[in-house]
Amino acid sequence: MALLVTGGCGFIGSNYVRRVRRLRPEAALVNLDLLTYAGNLENVAELRDEPGYTFVRGDVADAAVVERVLVEHGIDEIVHFAAESHVDRAILGPAAFVRTNVLGTATLLEAARRIGVRRFVQVSTDEVYGALGPDDPPFTEESPLRPRNPYSASKAAADHLALAYHHTYGFPVVVTRCGNNFGPYQFPEKLIPLLISNALEDRPVPVYGDGLQVRDWIHVHDHCRGIESVREKGRLGVVYNIGARGESTNLELVRTVLRVLGKSESLIRFVEDRPGHDRRYAMDARRIGEELGWRPEMRFEEALADTVRWYIDHRAWWEAVRSGAYLEYYDRQYGSRLCGDV
Ligand code: NAD
Ligand code: DAU
Repeated sequence: MALLVTGGCGFIGSNYVRRVRRLRPEAALVNLDLLTYAGNLENVAELRDEPGYTFVRGDVADAAVVERVLVEHGIDEIVHFAAESHVDRAILGPAAFVRTNVLGTATLLEAARRIGVRRFVQVSTDEVYGALGPDDPPFTEESPLRPRNPYSASKAAADHLALAYHHTYGFPVVVTRCGNNFGPYQFPEKLIPLLISNALEDRPVPVYGDGLQVRDWIHVHDHCRGIESVREKGRLGVVYNIGARGESTNLELVRTVLRVLGKSESLIRFVEDRPGHDRRYAMDARRIGEELGWRPEMRFEEALADTVRWYIDHRAWWEAVRSGAYLEYYDRQYGSRLCGDV
């Protein structure tokens, strides 16, 4: 089997690529990643010289690049992670989100359909469902899509395109939607790694608004297991929510992490709220459990403590990310040349 993973140098993609490599060493694995600010070759450095693993620096929105990768590597299946993923950046500059998340997904779908790829996993998010009130039941796969910020709107558009390709052309698509991930190699602009790294340096930790927004947290290990189940056994044209019932307010979460680190709550700084900030997300993941037998393996408190330990043990990784040194690293390796420029 030849598997194309897009965005495999980012947070979740790199965890997924390492997992697939470990569990399915016989599969040919191609990692197509543009190496934006969020992509880091260090995240997959251990795979670099492995036979059967190929890294291609390229843009999913570039049809020529995508087509060449699919044909040259005889790709059978695609797991599509590549995206602009940070809500705050989407508020400051939505255009990149439309380009990568919408046009990029459309480009990949079209090339994959024409070439006859056998399975396409669209990796998506609970944010496409919009926001819940405090007493609302969790989102199911039947909940209407009501995205409320440019990031979630771009992901919803991509999901619609993927499902439309199934409906119109019978193209073999499955969609996963997951809540807030945490774990190793998450870019320290997202709440948990930002919080841990700031606290380790005794710097203030920004909490938006009143900090009572609720997110449904899941360790990246369980998300990647869920994606793999859906890739292997998910019904075509179907959406699968992935969630571990890990609801917490941001403030509770921040306090827990500070406690685990032995740091004072005086580091907390309440700052201006994110515009249009969604108040609550929560996922009903019964379908993937009942149909595919997936259950989360990690308990929230242990998963959080493990994650804190990982950032303590990998200080050099996040210091390099924060300083921007990792960007120089791949410029040395690849220059500014993209696959499509050859
Ligand atoms: P990330 O920002 O850490 O990584 C994104 C990766 O995509 C980077 O390696 C980047 O270089 C690459 N990329 C960006 N634009 C590209 C382009 N045009 N062509 C090729 N590669 C490109 O993101 P993440 O947090 O790992 O999220 C991965 C996917 O999972 C996204 O689709 C996101 O919407 C989805 N998701 C994320 C979460 C979460 O909590 N982080 C939850 C649910 C779903
Ligand atoms: O729900 C899934 C989504 O989770 C993914 O689709 C997105 O790709 C991912 O970025 C994440 O989105 P959020 O906006 O929920 O994640 P973020 O880590 O940016 O913020 C989590 C919560 O913490 C959110 O309510 C905003 C708040 N926050 C965030 C930061 C960075 C703070 O209070 N302070 C901060 O400094």
